[in-house]
Amino acid sequence: MFIKHSTIEKKPFLLLVLIIITISIGGLVEIVPLYTVETTIERVEGVRPYTPLEQMGRNIYVREGCYLCHSQMIRPFRDEVERYGHYSLAAESMYDHPFQWGSKRTGPDLARVGGKYSNEWHVAHMVDPRSVVPESIMPTYPFMTRDLDVDDVQAHLETLRMVGVPYSDEMVASAVADLATQADPEADHDGLLARYPKAVVGDFDGDPARVTELDALIAYMQMLGTLVDFADVDPSSLEQ
Ligand code: HEC
Repeated sequence: MFIKHSTIEKKPFLLLVLIIITISIGGLVEIVPLYTVETTIERVEGVRPYTPLEQMGRNIYVREGCYLCHSQMIRPFRDEVERYGHYSLAAESMYDHPFQWGSKRTGPDLARVGGKYSNEWHVAHMVDPRSVVPESIMPTYPFMTRDLDVDDVQAHLETLRMVGVPYSDEMVASAVADLATQADPEADHDGLLARYPKAVVGDFDGDPARVTELDALIAYMQMLGTLVDFADVDPSSLEQ
């Protein structure tokens, strides 16, 4: 056997062909099964596309580069789970384009910041972080009290649909109305909640007369990590 092997080693072309065959077998075994599964992401109950208002808030989050200081991925380590909550599941970011996992944490992870603070806290924190966290080094964003640009909300949903987010025709058609409804505490929210279960509704920025960038950004932050019900999952099961 070893003698035969030395023959192969002395014939570079034969060696090359045999190497290619060996690597191809390994590649096929790993790659081909993936074509038979519809998705590599396990579906999880509760995960839904973003509401138009949340999606616009998410766009502001991306525009401002919040990801440069904040990750949105809780890793499955005990210290992270005890600080931030259940570790992030792949399904929780399956409708994210682009995803915001990140690896830089100048500030804390935000994957489960939804419901952690009141809307008032978020407004104060965005306008002047030092007013609520004196030692904070986060930049101020006072200009976000300006009106939200809603002209392209429908186009955004349509574009996301092209890359696989399951927005229905109804969701796209009612995008502008849904956006206004979510930010209006007096509105009838039934249609919105039927399309987007668990959407947080109300006036987010303390100014019910206008829909501002803060409304959108806070609506987005208040839903982060709240869609999946982890009541049945015991974080201590992580300890092995
Ligand atoms: C230069 C880095 C930096 C940038 C950019 C930044 N942050 Fe922060 N952020 C921080 C730091 C540091 C903290 C922790 C201190 C504090 O609460 O202000 C923080 C805290 C937060 C918190 C509170 C998290 C918690 O669990 O207590 C939220 C929410 C937040 N940031 C949102 C944002 C958003 C939204 C943006 C983009 C518009 C943003 N941050 C941009 C550094 C940053």
